[in-house]
Amino acid sequence: MRTLRFHNYGEPADVLRVEDAESLSPGPGQIRVAVEACGLNPADWALCGGLFPGDLPRGIGLEVSGTVDAVGDGVTGVDIGGPVFGSAPFTGPSAGASEQALLDLWFPRPSGLDPAGAAALPMAVGTAYAALDALGAGAGNTVLVHGAGTTTGYAAAQIAIQRGARVIATAGQTYADALRAAGAEVTSYGDGMAERVRELAAGPVELVLDAAPFSNALPELVRTVKEPERVLTLGILEADNELGVRSAIGAGVGPCYDVLGEFAQLASEGRFSVPVARTFPLEDWRTALELSQSQQAHGKVVLRIS
Ligand SMILES: NC(=O)c1ccc[n+]([C@@H]2O[C@H](COP(=O)([O-])OP(=O)(O)OC[C@H]3O[C@@H](n4cnc5c(N)ncnc54)[C@H](OP(=O)(O)O)[C@@H]3O)[C@@H](O)[C@H]2O)c1
Repeated sequence: MRTLRFHNYGEPADVLRVEDAESLSPGPGQIRVAVEACGLNPADWALCGGLFPGDLPRGIGLEVSGTVDAVGDGVTGVDIGGPVFGSAPFTGPSAGASEQALLDLWFPRPSGLDPAGAAALPMAVGTAYAALDALGAGAGNTVLVHGAGTTTGYAAAQIAIQRGARVIATAGQTYADALRAAGAEVTSYGDGMAERVRELAAGPVELVLDAAPFSNALPELVRTVKEPERVLTLGILEADNELGVRSAIGAGVGPCYDVLGEFAQLASEGRFSVPVARTFPLEDWRTALELSQSQQAHGKVVLRIS
């Protein structure tokens, strides 16, 4: 089977290649899918650079949708040929960006949700949900989602609104109107952002989720809340961070995948979305990489496998 993987650590453009690999058999509790679509994430590129080091070669691609083509011991209630989506382990010689992938965790893909739309969900939804839980964001809170034009921030804004929070969002033009339609109050990021947010909130907001791809707005975000520990960033903090904000990585907040089935159902009914920026054939992975690393993808970058 064709797979996108690396044999050495380094820059993804230098070390990744599409090649033939052995088909993998599902282990106990796993299924194997014929992959239709695979969502790409910053974590894929970090993996190439040595995040979670281990045996090589190593596959990339965590977010998968496809049809079941084999099941491991102990797996019940799964139809061969049935449409599913979920997360692929990052630890093997191939992962989701492959013609076949093993899944540890999966959900049925509802009719009405296409393969690319399903592959866009796991990381954004799982991360946003867990981060909002870590912040304690719920009904009655005023929450600032900074970087609501990212896939994770866009998911977080919708989830916080569903929980009954008042959401103020910073975003570029691409999804500003969609965020407003979902119920958020939207302003731009960049110069003067803290003042614009405080004006919208008529004072400090209660909680801030920083979902932006850069951490340079943290000093401004601190000025939107009463105490800096009410800011949770999904980015990487500098070692000498003295702002007092919290980081998801530092707090051990990882994606919560248990809720994916619920959000897939909402997405299939048009009541939730993680937008897809573009899909690319597997062989065009370099263009997908460039778009993902541009920080201007405006949606999930997805590989189309079959
Ligand atoms: N800790 C974890 O488990 C975890 C998991 C997933 C992601 N993350 C982190 O979460 C962040 C978002 O990831 P993602 O994959 O969702 O990002 P993404 O969708 O790839 O982000 C790209 C988007 O960022 C927006 N953007 C560009 N420059 C910006 C700026 N200066 N300020 C605010 N927004 C800007 C742009 O949208 P607009 O200009 O249209 O608004 C662009 O479309 C990253 O820092 C990522 O590393 C962490």
